[in-house]
Amino acid sequence: MMKAKTKTEPTVKSAAASLRVRPRRLRLSPSLRKLARESTLKPQDFIYPLFVRHGSDRQIPIDSMPGCSQMTVDKLAAEAKAIAALGIPAVILFGIPAHKDWRGSDNFNDDGIIPRAIRAIKTAAPELAVITDMCFCEYTDHGHCGIINAPENAHFDPALPLGYLLNDPTLELLGRASVVHARAGADIIAPSGMIDGMVAGIRAALDEAGFAQVAVMSYAAKYASEFYGPFRDAAHSAPGFGDRSQYQLDPANRREAVREIALDVEQGADILMVKPALPSLDILNEARALFDLPLAAYQVSGEYAMIHAAAQRGWLDLQRAAIESLTCIKRAGADIIVTYFAKDAVRWLADA
Ligand code: PBG
Repeated sequence: MMKAKTKTEPTVKSAAASLRVRPRRLRLSPSLRKLARESTLKPQDFIYPLFVRHGSDRQIPIDSMPGCSQMTVDKLAAEAKAIAALGIPAVILFGIPAHKDWRGSDNFNDDGIIPRAIRAIKTAAPELAVITDMCFCEYTDHGHCGIINAPENAHFDPALPLGYLLNDPTLELLGRASVVHARAGADIIAPSGMIDGMVAGIRAALDEAGFAQVAVMSYAAKYASEFYGPFRDAAHSAPGFGDRSQYQLDPANRREAVREIALDVEQGADILMVKPALPSLDILNEARALFDLPLAAYQVSGEYAMIHAAAQRGWLDLQRAAIESLTCIKRAGADIIVTYFAKDAVRWLADA
């Protein structure tokens, strides 16, 4: 028996003897793998999104986003305390207003849904940082992110196409609404509409109103993505006509994304965000290399829904897929991740 083998043995042995570099050594045990791990998730990496609505004592589950719901302001105190207790440092708020109009006036009403939500959270869990999504799509009757060109409104410009998003009039409203959110106690304003000049406009409005301490987290590179689908059901913010490709990035473009991020750095953004996350790992990676500001990634509703949908069918394991996706977003360069998995992830990491 030995003899039959001798023909091949010498080659195998010599190859093995010369194999000094063996990356597998550090994968031998869980402890060694922990030592070698380059990217780790911590509770403080996460921002948890909340959907807030008028009314009382209601929590309405969002079908396409299992585990998430729209909640009334009175439900926020308990929720905020639970989030803070998990060690998650911040929430980002999305409002569903009672009424919508052409300019989204609920968003700059001191008694609108977001100011009420901010005050409730700050009373219940003052240590929790409150970020507000700054956009008009949830507040306008047409579902676009600002004022659109229409003959019946004050800013009508016949030189521009009907339905075109009017950039500069929208900037004014963004500034106004940001001041309203800051006055209610927001720590960070997060403009998400990809309106040209939105960071500078909001910065100037905040500073003039005496809110120089309030930070701006810009959705600096936001693609016009299909992956926001479930969110639009959750926040009732689908555009009534057309799509957002006249103001948000074409998913085909990388250089343009870098240019957009650079503009927001110049305009004074404090935190840069890239969205969606998993489809934009290349952008995260490049932004990490080029810019020194804190970098956030938004793992959007469609990314969350896909993982849940596949897990429901037994096609993948929810926890493993979620943790892997979040870890890869960090590996690509994100310091901060906005994710609907935030609360689950903290619990899973504690058990691991
Ligand atoms: C704009 C906004 C959207 C999301 C975050 N901020 C919707 C949009 O751009 O259509 C999407 C987040 C998600 O899909 O989870 N208010």
